[in-house]
Amino acid sequence: MSKFPNNFTWGVATSAYQIEGAAAEDGRGPSIWDTFTNTPGKIIDGSTGDVACDHYHRYQEDVELIASLHVNAYRFSVSWSRVQPTGSGEWNEAGFQFYSKLLDQLIAKNIQPHLTLYHWDLPQALQDQGGWLSRDTTQHFAHYAAEVARRFGDRVASIATHNEPWCTSVLGHGTGQFAPGMADPVLAIQVSHHLLLSHGLALQAMRATGTKTKLGIVLNQWPVTAATDSAEDLAKAKLEYAQSVQWYMDPIFKGHYPALALAHLDQSLLLIHENDFKNIQQPLDFLGVNYYTRTFISTEHPPRKPEGKLGFSDMGWETYPDGLTDLLVGLHQEYTLPPVYITENGIAVADQLNKDSGGIDDHQRTDYLRRHLDALQAAMQQGVDVRGYFYWSLMDNFEWNSGYAKRFGMVYVDYATQQRTVKGSGIWYRQFIDSHMALHATREYAQSKTA
Ligand code: FCB
Repeated sequence: MSKFPNNFTWGVATSAYQIEGAAAEDGRGPSIWDTFTNTPGKIIDGSTGDVACDHYHRYQEDVELIASLHVNAYRFSVSWSRVQPTGSGEWNEAGFQFYSKLLDQLIAKNIQPHLTLYHWDLPQALQDQGGWLSRDTTQHFAHYAAEVARRFGDRVASIATHNEPWCTSVLGHGTGQFAPGMADPVLAIQVSHHLLLSHGLALQAMRATGTKTKLGIVLNQWPVTAATDSAEDLAKAKLEYAQSVQWYMDPIFKGHYPALALAHLDQSLLLIHENDFKNIQQPLDFLGVNYYTRTFISTEHPPRKPEGKLGFSDMGWETYPDGLTDLLVGLHQEYTLPPVYITENGIAVADQLNKDSGGIDDHQRTDYLRRHLDALQAAMQQGVDVRGYFYWSLMDNFEWNSGYAKRFGMVYVDYATQQRTVKGSGIWYRQFIDSHMALHATREYAQSKTA
């Protein structure tokens, strides 16, 4: 039975580059992901986001689809280069109009819009000037953030500055798996600092507009499990947690980087200005947490692997719902958290359309979803103030360097025809939300009778 509160936010999530397509339409400028996907060898199936789910042209149908799931919230991102083609200078009115129409449509359907400013698609023109390695980008970002808040602040339920800055830093600049494809761990650290700074500057710039919408950030997080109790495994797990989770949480909530992580890097290579932490440590109205799986650390050769009692996803990620409880309870003990939203949680499954039934039986996803909602309730019972949950993703889409080969959606997309079909998990989610609503309606009715 659902123990989630009456006013809980139930949503689904997407991001601009992964669904919109229309890469060169109505004045959109190129982003680093256009450049990256057009570089041979970067994307497993050689695909790009040029068309993706063609959401730019099908957004009305897609809002109907979202509404059909009975969710009350939708998380999406704005493509910066669609509204400001070069990332500085001129605004592109046609780009803003697209999002404005999307917001109108969502609101008409009673779906709260939750907007993310940066889901990895930096305007290429800014990359050409140094991208996130340049401090100037932090100012351009704050300027862009304020403009979006000014235009849309009264219509959106929340604005998040960044989505998963760890990915931009580590995968984009440390390993090179993501755009802009740089592979230098030293650069990655400087980028992480600029991302955090840009978050703080953007929050201040948005607050200065007088917007009443809720402002926050979305971080990808995981608990880190040591494979054994050996001193080596335990120490490495602790360091990994400091370098990934605390590296972002500490500056935002405590105004400094974690000492353990700092001790493991050459600090002379990291450029921090005097007021940076003051700028980064801004009060948040909410924290968005993206959780998929835990991180498992083994120092043995070859490394030990997690047992995976509940199996692995099509990405090879272990299904580990307890990790969501552990993570949230741990964060709650360590920091004074604002209200938390699970802004992403989901699983890739090798779904296939059943030609006979016309449906998709993705019971592995339904099971994942059910178990993670249980894990979330467990965290809430231990005192974590969680206000909402967004499944990743609304529909199958462009999964970054995995191209279209990995399917995370609750809705199946046939890319040849762009036909959308709600999967079994989507039907389950709708029923879950319906029974949650019905339960609260019944409770309210009972209370009104006994009052
Ligand atoms: C997250 C991203 C999201 C999607 C999921 C599977 O890291 O924020 O865009 O790719 O992973």
